[in-house]
Amino acid sequence: MPPSAHDKLLFTPGPLTTSLSVKQAMLHDAGSWHFEFNHIVAEIRRRLLALAGTSRDQGFECVLMQGSGSFGVESVLGSVIPPNGRVLILANGAYGERIVRMAEVLKISHLAYRTAEDTPTNPSAVERILAQDPAVTHVAAVHCETTTGILNPIQPIGQVTRQHQRRFIVDAMSSFGALPIELESSGIDYLVSSANKCIEGVPGFSFALARRDPFLATAGWARSLSLDLLGQWQGFEKTGQFRYTPPTHALLAFHQALDEWEAEGGVTGRGARYQQNHATLMHGMCSLGFQPFLPAHVQSPIITAFRHPADPAFRFDEFYRRLSDRGMIIYPGKLTQIDTFRIGTIGRLFPADLEQLLAAIRLSLNEMGCALPFNSTPQPHAIPG
Ligand SMILES: Cc1ncc(COP(=O)(O)O)c(C=O)c1O
Repeated sequence: MPPSAHDKLLFTPGPLTTSLSVKQAMLHDAGSWHFEFNHIVAEIRRRLLALAGTSRDQGFECVLMQGSGSFGVESVLGSVIPPNGRVLILANGAYGERIVRMAEVLKISHLAYRTAEDTPTNPSAVERILAQDPAVTHVAAVHCETTTGILNPIQPIGQVTRQHQRRFIVDAMSSFGALPIELESSGIDYLVSSANKCIEGVPGFSFALARRDPFLATAGWARSLSLDLLGQWQGFEKTGQFRYTPPTHALLAFHQALDEWEAEGGVTGRGARYQQNHATLMHGMCSLGFQPFLPAHVQSPIITAFRHPADPAFRFDEFYRRLSDRGMIIYPGKLTQIDTFRIGTIGRLFPADLEQLLAAIRLSLNEMGCALPFNSTPQPHAIPG
């Protein structure tokens, strides 16, 4: 496949459509021990802290970890909870459930607090649980639950977590870089995200931002060698290098992606473009009669889940194929109870790309014999909490 601007557009939650210049940054072979490459690694670590509005001087550390976002989350979970610790996991979608599964596999004592997939976690409920369960040492939450695009209120959750003197882990995979996150006022001790989301790099590594004091007190707790977060940090401190082979090309691409993120105006600029993409999408989809799964006030501009329309002529597989034939990739749903599909509005996409997608959606539905606009009377749904 040629590395061109003619690749299909990815309306997905990542890997994403990236800029040509990010792809071109990978056309180099970098020596993983070489000082020039290690300088880039150090720069990335420093700039990720700056992106989060902090620095080493302000008591945070940045650790890069090979592997996709799940590796980063598992690295934090498996490294910073003491052997006798217990984690409260707040779940309202597949990624919260993945943290539960990690805790099971790692044999970490845990408690899941679930809300329905269209309902954000209530900080008062977290407060009640923390008051009732003194064994809980850590709370883990997902900021933007990419299953639906729902936003969880991490700031008030973090505040009650801090009031109860527990540590707070946030999976900010699909929000970091585009939605404002304040580490300090949100009481975040560990934040995890990855290269191929809102910073618009390519897959290959994840990263954790860690509050130094509690982090340095985690020695000996890691349940894995290669995912040992403190071990990885110590490696960087000692040699400036990754302990094991780094994804060199992905790091070169990310360095370029950070430049482009800054040039766009950082969180404000990138977030504004994603908001415009999302507004364009919602306007077009609603006029076609599609129903978003979430109420607007909890919906992020990152990804949106739409219900399958009731029209018998609509079949998702055919819809997907027709859009793909037109050069556009959307995403299947991930909800357990209801048929949905998802459209991502992140990556190197602009409102004009969303307009193009909407035109392709209309054409594809016409070809399938759907009667447009769909009847958009909201259908009741019952999702167990
Ligand atoms: C919120 C969230 N957490 C975790 C993950 C897992 O990341 P990965 O698929 O890169 O392992 C994702 C992926 O989309 C995500 O959106």
